[in-house]
Amino acid sequence: MEAKMSIKVVVINGPNLNLLGKREPEVYGSLTLEEINREIEKEAEKIGAEVTFHQTNLEGEIVNLIQAAPNEFDAVIINPAGYSHTSVAILDAILGIDIPVVEVHLSNIHSREEFRHRSITARGAIGTISGFGSFGYIMALEAIVERLKEEK
Ligand code: DQA
Repeated sequence: MEAKMSIKVVVINGPNLNLLGKREPEVYGSLTLEEINREIEKEAEKIGAEVTFHQTNLEGEIVNLIQAAPNEFDAVIINPAGYSHTSVAILDAILGIDIPVVEVHLSNIHSREEFRHRSITARGAIGTISGFGSFGYIMALEAIVERLKEEK
């Protein structure tokens, strides 16, 4: 019997997201990043995807992770956090790879301070999910699986 290939997705979380759970819980919710990742993992198992997680506070490290992603993964889910609003380097890295990238924000960046309304990095994504808390990562995973199925 032919082995079923699962879709491999890397989830990259940017600066300060390691503090989830205690960081402004009224904005970002009470789950820790570890708890969110377990939720994503559970969903991945259900839909036949494999997920790998990274969190870093360093912009260049995010660039490195994005550049390396196509060697191992079929798609990227990224929450560039504060760098979303500032980082041409992360946008360029996203534009430089040929696998789909979905951008996630826990909060609704459009209903917050004006400087958060624009995401520079989102320009390189196939889509953005913002405002649904940790469920946004699950939505992103489902969107990716659907998109990759369509492309087959
Ligand atoms: C965030 C929104 C950003 O504006 C902020 O800097 C973050 C988190 C979110 O997930 O809602 O760190 O990306």
